[in-house]
Amino acid sequence: MPVVVLVMTGWLSRWSLAVLVPWRFSCSADRWFYMHGKLSLVLDFGPHAVCRSQAVSQAVAMNALAGTSRNFRLASRLLGLDSKLEKSLLIPFREIKVECTIPKDDGTLVSYVGFRIQHDNARGPMKGGIRYHPEVDPDEVNALAQLMTWKTAVADIPYGGAKGGIGCSPRELSKSELERLTRVFTQKIHDLIGIHTDVPAPDMGTNAQTMAWILDEYSKFHGHSPAVVTGKPIDLGGSLGREAATGRGVVYATEALLAEYWKAVKGLTFVIQGFGNVGSWVARLIHERGGKVIAVSDVTGAVKNPNGIDIPELLKYKEATGSLKGFSGGDSMDPNELLVHECDVLVPCALGGVINKENAADVKAKFIIEAANHPTDPEADEILSKKGVIMLPDIYANAGGVTVSYFEWVQNIQGFMWDEDKVNKELKRYMTQAFHNIKTMCQTHQCNLRMGAFTLGVNRVARATLLRGWEA
Ligand SMILES: NC(=O)c1ccc[n+]([C@@H]2O[C@H](COP(=O)([O-])OP(=O)(O)OC[C@H]3O[C@@H](n4cnc5c(N)ncnc54)[C@H](O)[C@@H]3O)[C@@H](O)[C@H]2O)c1
Repeated sequence: MPVVVLVMTGWLSRWSLAVLVPWRFSCSADRWFYMHGKLSLVLDFGPHAVCRSQAVSQAVAMNALAGTSRNFRLASRLLGLDSKLEKSLLIPFREIKVECTIPKDDGTLVSYVGFRIQHDNARGPMKGGIRYHPEVDPDEVNALAQLMTWKTAVADIPYGGAKGGIGCSPRELSKSELERLTRVFTQKIHDLIGIHTDVPAPDMGTNAQTMAWILDEYSKFHGHSPAVVTGKPIDLGGSLGREAATGRGVVYATEALLAEYWKAVKGLTFVIQGFGNVGSWVARLIHERGGKVIAVSDVTGAVKNPNGIDIPELLKYKEATGSLKGFSGGDSMDPNELLVHECDVLVPCALGGVINKENAADVKAKFIIEAANHPTDPEADEILSKKGVIMLPDIYANAGGVTVSYFEWVQNIQGFMWDEDKVNKELKRYMTQAFHNIKTMCQTHQCNLRMGAFTLGVNRVARATLLRGWEA
């Protein structure tokens, strides 16, 4: 049974709760705080909270929610944020939950739950993906919405953070069922999203077509509004360069980091996990710049070549066969060995949590570029830092996608389309500037790049919040 103790903290002029319980409950208490923070009782995770250190040290290993929360709190301590402001920054602006009932193709009625978590709008309209996945979990969506707030601030684009989704299996739905579901979801939330309010984008299980349906349905209520979503088809106002943007941003970020060490992509060896949208663009652009991609993997297998894989040939092969298996320009390898393969730069572009306490000590790369979200779990982070591996954090490294989404929104509002060269040049400018801003935070706070990025993002949101005046 949890023991609940009421304490009065000096720096918080209202009653707070400290919960003396095993860490498992503390974790859910942390979640509870996220979900219900607007209630007058506020859980106390400040310096005096009895269970904080135990909860934090164990919760970090658990999931994206815990990882994001931990990084936020560390950044907040480094910045010396007032505890009231810290709490306020964690509380989502709005949580939307709707039932989406549609007729299936066979005439039966089915209902799906849709969420939209709008985390923060201090710096501008909230921005984030909509995912269709059977395990859409409100806690995870909450963490991802929060992460978007810090990510858009790191990239210095005038947005806040949001995330949403529908708990469904998109592969089990026909195209017309998906369209009906998307339209019903849009009907339920159209008053709460908008060009200057909340701008959705594609995520897992959704794509440009999904955005086209949202745009069409939203426009029935509000008039033609291409800027209400990004990641649209080009024919409906999508941006040139958006498809490659995340991978291209990863490469610009890598170049900015390497330049700090008097290195360049050319001549270095790269290992890339994942050969989907992000991984294939990273591989292509590294290859174009004279970098040697010596191993690549995807869900079908892994291939290596110490002399460098011919990436254009591998792309053709994958296009033709749908697989990396059997590619004659290299030897097949154990995909589990890929992450610990000898190389200069390791670029995880697939799943979260792939670098963990089991394999971190064996990683041989000198640099890790986190193109995927959460590829390094916090225990691995610690092991790698001790080994002197330089890690470029996901919150910055994969921000190229949302940055070009911002350019898409700007073009829609301007009613003027940029050419691809302009999109790429602006992307490079934003990614390079963000790197230098992160570096300044690292110097100011004597911290690593992950904390440099978090302090940069959190500080910008905190400043905007204070300037607006947030105590109603
Ligand atoms: N696409 C974007 O704009 C974007 C933006 C920010 C972050 N990200 C993150 O980047 C990562 C990749 O996204 P994406 O859009 O390229 O997805 P994708 O679905 O296009 O590609 C994922 C790739 O990972 C591979 N993969 C899956 N399981 C694997 C395994 N066990 N071992 C090796 N490879 C495996 C798949 O085969 C595929 O090649 C994700 O973490 C995503 O959240 C993507």
